[in-house]
Amino acid sequence: MSDDFAYAHGRDDIVWMSQNTNHLPTHPAIEEAIRDSAASHEFNKYPLAKGLPRLRELILEDLGLPDFGIHITNGGTEALYCLMRYLQPAGSRMITSDPSYFIIHKFAKMGGAECTDLPIYGGTCRFDLDAVRAAITPETKSILLIDPLNPLGSTYPREEVRALCEIAREHDLWIIDDITYRDFAPEHTLATEFAPERTVIAYSVSKNCGLAGLRVGALVAPQEFIDDIAGSMVSDLGISIIGQRAAIAALETKPEWLPRNIEICSRNQAIIKRAVDAVDGAHLPVYPSAANMMVIDIADCGVSPQAVQDALLYDHQIFIRAGNYVSARFGDRFVRVSFSLPTPEVERFAEHFPRVMERLCDSG
Ligand SMILES: Cc1ncc(COP(=O)(O)O)c(C=O)c1O
Repeated sequence: MSDDFAYAHGRDDIVWMSQNTNHLPTHPAIEEAIRDSAASHEFNKYPLAKGLPRLRELILEDLGLPDFGIHITNGGTEALYCLMRYLQPAGSRMITSDPSYFIIHKFAKMGGAECTDLPIYGGTCRFDLDAVRAAITPETKSILLIDPLNPLGSTYPREEVRALCEIAREHDLWIIDDITYRDFAPEHTLATEFAPERTVIAYSVSKNCGLAGLRVGALVAPQEFIDDIAGSMVSDLGISIIGQRAAIAALETKPEWLPRNIEICSRNQAIIKRAVDAVDGAHLPVYPSAANMMVIDIADCGVSPQAVQDALLYDHQIFIRAGNYVSARFGDRFVRVSFSLPTPEVERFAEHFPRVMERLCDSG
């Protein structure tokens, strides 16, 4: 795996569909904010530990939660890592799914917590509420709600979010609402709508704003929760000031770029679907995806996901991911592709994917 990343990072002609990053054009205000910050040399000092006031205000405004507490973090990743340290001690349990974004599970397990990894592939590709209820034990501390879900792009209807919140209240659990892909979802419901007192949000500007390389995110929760966890955050000395300035510019200009990005993503999804439809046995478990990535099921094609990843990367410089990175049980059934890219790059994938599948089938 690391060799694939070393190969891909060593070239400048890669179609980057492997990490759900956003490669659509950057608004000029963002580039200007980065230049201005660098020119002012404000990077000489540590930034305010809890984050720039304007950025904090914009994120809470973005969520419609002006009275919540917030701590700016090194991407959503830091927020999730610190949350796991804080919420999931050794011997505790977290309700999680498979497939999922397993890095969060890894953080929980590092501290001795257990993850339920409820199978959700096929069907709705969301938590089954009865299965969630059945998995709760006295040790359970939280439900990890990734919505929309990486890798499937499934999202929870409002009534299911409400029901999950009711379950959480009944059993005195936290809801960890990972909303990294929220802006791509045409309709999304925050868990704070139903359980504000027990919802903790992992927020990120990596995917929606296209700022993954600047590492900006936030932990958003009731003020008392933030007051309590603040002393144990990794970003004790703040996070990149340049990243924060860029995030401010991105959020201030969001209405100017987000609708166009969503439109491009929707067009790109349709292009991928046509390419998948051309491959015997391949299908999309979730379409349309409510995120900027989707899963292509190739279990009936007689080809391994890793072989498809390798052929596309090394023969065509198109970087997608085999499913085992995001699913222990189902990872050998699918590949994951992201599509927040200029359309010609997605067309390059659509041209090569059916040919690669045909070639691998013939040689298998
Ligand atoms: C579900 C989910 N949560 C959190 C993250 C972390 O994002 P970042 O640390 O870049 O904000 C990712 C990144 O892929 C993700 O898919």
